[in-house]
Amino acid sequence: MGKPRVLSGIQPTGELHLGNYLGAIRNWVEIQQAYDSFLFMADLHAITVPHDPKTLAANTYKVAALYLACGIDLNCATIFVQSHVSAHSELTWLFMCLTPLNWLEAMVQFKEKAIRQGENVGAGLLNYPVLQAADILLYEPDKVPVGEDQKQHLELTRDIADRLNFQFGSEGNPVLKVPEPMIRKEGARVMSLTDGTKKMSKSDPSDLSRINLLDPPDVIAKKIKRCKTDPMRGLEFDNPERPECNNLLTLYSILANKTKDAVAEECREMGWGQFKPLFTEATIAALGPIQDRYHEIMANKDYLESVLRQGREQAEAIANPTLHKVKAALGYSMPL
Ligand code: TYM
Repeated sequence: MGKPRVLSGIQPTGELHLGNYLGAIRNWVEIQQAYDSFLFMADLHAITVPHDPKTLAANTYKVAALYLACGIDLNCATIFVQSHVSAHSELTWLFMCLTPLNWLEAMVQFKEKAIRQGENVGAGLLNYPVLQAADILLYEPDKVPVGEDQKQHLELTRDIADRLNFQFGSEGNPVLKVPEPMIRKEGARVMSLTDGTKKMSKSDPSDLSRINLLDPPDVIAKKIKRCKTDPMRGLEFDNPERPECNNLLTLYSILANKTKDAVAEECREMGWGQFKPLFTEATIAALGPIQDRYHEIMANKDYLESVLRQGREQAEAIANPTLHKVKAALGYSMPL
């Protein structure tokens, strides 16, 4: 028996931020020795909202370099570009024909993004979770490590797999493996710096709302200086009246690598003026080595290209047989 498999991805839109790191990449790194990991840049997802063709490829490379800079080890992980593996698009079509429209209309992320886009909302945005289901099910992973906001998409993925197995599989012989979500408790929902009730997001128009993994120290210091706090003295976790306080303390505990109890004790009597410099220092210290490695990797484009070329081969070796299995179950003849 080989290692169990995980699969996950990030959209190469905007800058990757602490939410992406703590909700996803850091967890991939922590578990990678125990799993066979497939990690990709979701560049087909990136065009479900208006995008700039001039930056799409460069952003995709940037995210790949960040995966490596954050500590993804190619001895246990495959890194690839979603659009390089055409099975993703093909399986999406097959799944779309099996997915009830009302399942897609119920997706919270669709509703939120559709409201923002008004009448221009594209069919891609509605069908986005079907593409995500194809991304996942092609690789037959055991687990899908993501942040809390992806939970609904993973449930839909499981529903699509169950439906296909029910309609086209036979008892005891499912066509597709049904994966489990893997959502870690701490860091699963990093909140905005300007509103502790909203999640930190690439699509927030204000850059002050997030700390990006590549922000230089002075920018990190400025963002933390300006971030929203409250007028109370003494800092604490888990007070529903103080969402910003809970978020900032949680970030500090993860980035400074201290337990929640130790941070609760350390900050119990503190005011914001005392806490913010500590938090700033911990954030800069945690991101500095990632930024250094990132710049080294980006300076060697040939290396990055070879990683992605190999990634594509390894991804196709898993994805194509799954696609063929689904096509056969649906009754297609195989190309001669
Ligand atoms: P994306 O690009 O929005 O986010 C990538 C990962 O970061 C996590 N994340 C967060 N975690 C904690 N707090 C936050 N504020 C925060 N913001 C983002 C997300 O949960 C995610 O794990 N649809 C996906 C990309 C995708 C995918 C997939 C993921 C496409 N196909 C297949 C897994 C499997 C997305 O837009 O993530």
